[in-house]
Amino acid sequence: MVFDLNGKIALISGGASGIGLNYAKELLKNGVKGVCLADVSPEFGDKALKDIEAEFGTNRAIFVQTDVTDIKQFQNAFEKTIETFKHIDILINNAGILNDSLWEKEISVNLNGTIHGTLLALEKYLPSYKQGEDALIVNISSIAGIAEIGFVPIYTATKHAIIGLTRAWGIPLVYERTKVRVVALCPGVTLTPLIADMSGRNLGKEYETIFEKIRPTFQPSQEPEYLAEEAMNVFKHGPNGTLWVIESGQPAYEFKFPERFAQKGNVLSYD
Ligand SMILES: NC(=O)c1ccc[n+]([C@@H]2O[C@H](COP(=O)([O-])OP(=O)(O)OC[C@H]3O[C@@H](n4cnc5c(N)ncnc54)[C@H](O)[C@@H]3O)[C@@H](O)[C@H]2O)c1
Repeated sequence: MVFDLNGKIALISGGASGIGLNYAKELLKNGVKGVCLADVSPEFGDKALKDIEAEFGTNRAIFVQTDVTDIKQFQNAFEKTIETFKHIDILINNAGILNDSLWEKEISVNLNGTIHGTLLALEKYLPSYKQGEDALIVNISSIAGIAEIGFVPIYTATKHAIIGLTRAWGIPLVYERTKVRVVALCPGVTLTPLIADMSGRNLGKEYETIFEKIRPTFQPSQEPEYLAEEAMNVFKHGPNGTLWVIESGQPAYEFKFPERFAQKGNVLSYD
């Protein structure tokens, strides 16, 4: 299976900086015709549009100020994308924050934001406005979605939840109805402002101590440009409902859950 990116239109939440902007640029390099950067920050938006114009020319990108926690704002980003480019084929649910000290906001951005984007894309805009046979939703989870990152348990929970959404929305029965593939990316540590200073973005000093103890396991890291480049292979070839880790500047590998019933022998042992 190959999903041809040529001529497609993509909407990227949190797309005006960090890894999101790198996905946008890499998509354009791979033949995507237009991108919508749906981001909460107009400052990042202005700068990103200038960057994209300098590299790819005019009329390839729009910025729509969007807080993904507000489904009406998210819907407005879809509407503006269609007004401008007439189609939409790809949604990347990328907007996310890491800050357990603001955990209700963190859940709202990371989880509600992903749900808002998926409901709009899967149930309305992608089936109606895609150009080819298929469309694509990419949910940005993290290695925190498949491992226990004890210094930010709530961030970890939001990223695990994104795995659950991807697996459940990625079943064949949903695809047969919508013709929208749903895949997740689980990036490892990637050099962006999100991880530049993690100190203090936790539930307090006990968690800061855990952070200091496990900090060395957060090496080595990778550049956002590498992550975005490798992500294109997943966008083009990743089967529906699959989960892909990209870490340490290495090729993407698939993360698979173990067969549930094969674990029935793991019974509780006690005296
Ligand atoms: N950097 C890493 O090491 C890493 C690793 C794994 C997963 N991730 C995930 O990748 C995604 C992007 O991370 P990043 O490192 O580029 O972060 P970043 O902080 O560099 O960029 C995040 C972008 O999202 C935007 N944003 C924040 N809140 C928003 C909201 N409510 N609505 C719309 N936009 C919003 C910001 O303005 C910013 O442009 C996140 O979901 C993050 O959890 C990052």
